Amino acid sequence: MKILITYYSQTGNTEKIAQSIYKGCEGKEVEIKPIKEVDPSTLGDYELVFLGSGIYASRVNKSLADLIDAATELPPKFVFFNTHASRVPYQDGFRVVKEKMGEKSEIINEFDCCGDNIGVPEAIRNSMLEKLPPEKRKEAEEHQQWLKGRPNAEDLENAKKFAHSVIQKL
Ligand SMILES: Cc1cc2nc3c(=O)[nH]c(=O)nc-3n(C[C@H](O)[C@H](O)[C@H](O)COP(=O)(O)O)c2cc1C
Repeated sequence: MKILITYYSQTGNTEKIAQSIYKGCEGKEVEIKPIKEVDPSTLGDYELVFLGSGIYASRVNKSLADLIDAATELPPKFVFFNTHASRVPYQDGFRVVKEKMGEKSEIINEFDCCGDNIGVPEAIRNSMLEKLPPEKRKEAEEHQQWLKGRPNAEDLENAKKFAHSVIQKL
């Protein structure tokens, strides 16, 4: 069985998760590459594709939907994964990708993880915090602290275990 792990990652968080997923697939025939390196005409060659992205303005990157659009054939199974800065799990970012896929493939599982918002430099983040009213500011500072360095070692281990459990059930 051939497996592909592919992702869009602007600041590297989703790429770290992709690499942990790769480790969780140990023993299988698995390829990992950024989405821009995937030839859409090969997507149907895989039994399973792990497809991931960071969340930007509430959506995954457009390249994911573009890949589905351009593929001549889709794999029978997908697993979606994403990283986001919000505290709560977030899967709605894949809405457009899901619409494009329709009933052609099955989404067998989804994984999400927090990712530090390193796309905005710390100095700018701090100046934004300073403009908030005290109560909101405290909340935002706590959130920023909680997010710092994510995905952390535990997140990466969770991603690896997640991939391993997906593979075991195939
Ligand atoms: C331009 C931009 C927009 C973002 N928009 C959101 C958002 O709408 N919701 C959210 O939870 N996180 C948002 N984030 C945070 C990212 O989703 C988070 O840092 C993620 O881990 C980035 O993944 P990457 O490092 O793979 O690019 C945004 C980050 C950037 C840089």
